[in-house]
Amino acid sequence: MEKTVVELFAGVGGFRCGLNNVVINNNKVIEKGNWHFLWANQWEPATKTQEAYDCYIKRFGKDNVSNIDIFKVNKEEIPTHTLLVGGFPCQDYSVAKTLASSKGIEGKKGVLWWAINEVLKVKKPPFVLLENVDRILISPAKQRGRDFGIILRSFLDNGYAVEWRVINAAEYGHPQKRRRTYIFAYHKSTNYYKKMKNKKLENIVLKNGLFVKQFPIIKDVLNDNKASITKDNYKDLLEVSNNFTTQFYNAGIMLNGKIYTAKVTPINEKIKPLKDIIENKEVASKYFLSEEKLQKFKILKGSKSIPRIKPNGEKYFYSEGSMPYPDNLEAPARTMLTSEGGISRSTHIVEDFITKKIRLLTPLECERINEFPDNWTNTGMSDKKRNFMMGNALVVGVVKKIGQELEKIIEMEN
Ligand SMILES: C[S@@+](CC[C@H](N)C(=O)[O-])C[C@H]1O[C@@H](n2cnc3c(N)ncnc32)[C@H](O)[C@@H]1O
Repeated sequence: MEKTVVELFAGVGGFRCGLNNVVINNNKVIEKGNWHFLWANQWEPATKTQEAYDCYIKRFGKDNVSNIDIFKVNKEEIPTHTLLVGGFPCQDYSVAKTLASSKGIEGKKGVLWWAINEVLKVKKPPFVLLENVDRILISPAKQRGRDFGIILRSFLDNGYAVEWRVINAAEYGHPQKRRRTYIFAYHKSTNYYKKMKNKKLENIVLKNGLFVKQFPIIKDVLNDNKASITKDNYKDLLEVSNNFTTQFYNAGIMLNGKIYTAKVTPINEKIKPLKDIIENKEVASKYFLSEEKLQKFKILKGSKSIPRIKPNGEKYFYSEGSMPYPDNLEAPARTMLTSEGGISRSTHIVEDFITKKIRLLTPLECERINEFPDNWTNTGMSDKKRNFMMGNALVVGVVKKIGQELEKIIEMEN
């Protein structure tokens, strides 16, 4: 088995940077790892300009990088690969019977999961590594766990087992409190599957699985739950979509349709505070805040209780607590959103090292919060776009750690 990868929803290449331990040296991109990226796809539906794609090809070259809507890609033409990776959004994964044929079932248009599902069906990659927000485990509010259940059942129908873990990067020594669900699936044809299928599901989650090795947890679980998503319980995806609900916790496994999920607690590593990554030299004046903007941020970040009216006319108070102002340099960064740098409550505000004045983060600092190489997105984009890219991306160091386990798993296949 060769270490080949296909990267979907590639953005500016977070998975590739992590798996291949990428650095920039003398303006040259060096991929220290030896995962061979055969093909990548990145297309931004919301804009005509394609800055993420432009950045990706500037850094990695344009060969085998596609810039078309993934729904329009003929999946047969995707090269055969060992590992499929991608970060995809949390959407509504419910399915309905198609009108045309009472036999067919179909997900909502534009829901990216179905594009991934098609790649699984057509290409059957032995291993899959995906990233999504933590809320994917509990969505939607009116049928908790349905969406993740649909994902698990799709994997099952395609012949895979799935391990997952919600990882808060900051708890494992990375510079951002970004909580994301990482999903690792392996096909039943792999040695890894054959090894895991003889283990107790609890043991995979708590001792032997991929995640627990790099992201250690304390021995006692706070809560756990078992469920089943087999054909005996739910005839097809439609039945899962209509009826499945369960409590998923932050760690779990689905093997052969049986689910075990546990609420686990990380063994915290030494934290990486903001002060370790913010620029220790003079920063351009455009990042400093005028008195007027400072006041706006103060209000946005302060505690408040605002009278509002519900659609049914009922009055209520919208309340929110105060946030650190400026951000605490002794702690890791909070989650970076795509609106980072805009005048909003979530934007980071820091005290400048040199002038002691309050300012926004620079795009370079935003890259460091995600552990990308310095100036990764400095490819002709505006500051706003560079921050947007980082708000969409992932903490590269988390993928790097997962990659170390994947290396061992692939070795076992050969
Ligand atoms: C959450 S981001 C992934 C970011 C990436 N992991 C990174 O490190 O930059 C999802 C990406 O999917 C892309 N995307 C959205 N819809 C798409 C579609 N229909 N076809 C291809 N790419 C799409 C978006 O432009 C965005 O860059």
